[in-house]
Amino acid sequence: MTTWLLTGGAGYIGSHVIRALQESGRDVVVVDDLSTGVAERVPEDVPLIVGSVSDRDLLERTMREYDVSGVVHLAAKKAVGESVEKPLWYYRENVDGLLSVLEAMSASGVKNLVYSSSAAVYGQPDSCPVVETEATVPLSPYGETKLVGEWAVADAAAVADLSWASLRYFNVAGAADPQLGDTSVNNLIPIVLRSYRNGEAAKVFGDDYPTPDGTCLRDYIHVADLAEAHAAAAAFTEAGGAAEAINIGTGKGSSVLEVIDSVSRAVGAEVPYETVDRRAGDPAELIAAADKAERVLGWTAQRDLDDMTSSAARAAGL
Ligand code: WQD
Repeated sequence: MTTWLLTGGAGYIGSHVIRALQESGRDVVVVDDLSTGVAERVPEDVPLIVGSVSDRDLLERTMREYDVSGVVHLAAKKAVGESVEKPLWYYRENVDGLLSVLEAMSASGVKNLVYSSSAAVYGQPDSCPVVETEATVPLSPYGETKLVGEWAVADAAAVADLSWASLRYFNVAGAADPQLGDTSVNNLIPIVLRSYRNGEAAKVFGDDYPTPDGTCLRDYIHVADLAEAHAAAAAFTEAGGAAEAINIGTGKGSSVLEVIDSVSRAVGAEVPYETVDRRAGDPAELIAAADKAERVLGWTAQRDLDDMTSSAARAAGL
C-alpha cells in the first residue's frame, strides 16, 4: 500500500480526492492550514496535519514520517476576482506554496506529483473544444499563478526525475455527499442556489454571446469525477508516466440557461433569473477536449449536469 500526501485535503475538492485515493487502495495523509478547509471533511482514519504548505520543513518531516511516495498538491487560492485585487498574495500562496512542496519532495526523495492546474491557463482560447497544446494566455493573476506552477513543476521534474501530471480542471461542481459540498459560493451553481434560497432572481451575465442560446458555454465537471481523475493520475505517475498537462472536463458544454434549467429540476421549482450585462473577461465558450485524459489516464467523466445540480442542491439543504 502506498501513501500519498494531499495538500489542501480539507477543502471542497481535496475531501473528494481523499476518498477517491482511498477507494483506489492508497493511504492518505493531509496537510491543510484550515484557512478555508474544514477538519470534519477529513475522515477519521486519515492523519490531518494542520500547517502551511509554505512550511517546507513540516512537509519534509511529514513525507519522511509517513513514507510518502507521491503528492497531490491542491492547496491554493482560487478566486479569480480576488486574485485581481490581491495579485501578490496569490503569487505568494500559489507559487511559493508549490516551490516549497517541490523542495520538500526533492529533499525527501518523493518522485510522484499530481499538480492541480486550471482551464484558466488558456484564457480565451481561439477554438473549442480546447486541446492541451493550445496557447496558454491566462487572463487573471489566478490563471497566471497556475501556469507558472506548471512551468515550475516541469523544470523541477527535469532535474529531479519526477513523474508528474498537471490536471487542468474545468468548471467543478456538485458533491459526492451532502457533507462535502462547496461552501464558498464563488461559482455559478452555488450562486444560483443561494439566490433561489433568498428569493432573488439569479443573474445571467449576458445573453448576446455567439452561442446557441446567447449565454456562455462552460464544461461543468462533477467533483466526484474530478476526484477519480486524481486517482487515475496517481496511478499514471506510479507507472513512471511521462510529464503531461491534461484537461479534466467532460468535452460537453452547457450554457448558463441550461444550468439554471437543471437547477430548477433539482429544486423542483422554476428558478427565477434576469439577464444583466456581460461580466468583463468571460470567454463565450470554454470546453475541454477530453480525449487526452481518456487516452493517457484511462479516465472519462461518468456524471452529468443534473447529477451536479441535484447533489449541490442537497448539499445546500435544498
Ligand atoms: C460560469 C458561467 C459566467 C455567475 C471560473 C474560473 C476558473 C475556475 C472556475 C477555479 C460564466 C456565468 C456566473 C453568475 C452568470 N476557477 N455566471 N451569473 O468564470 O467559467 O470559471 O471558475 O478554480 O478558472 O475562471 O466560472 O462559475 O464564475 O461562471 O451568468 O451569477 O456562469 O458568466 O459564463 P468561470 P463561474
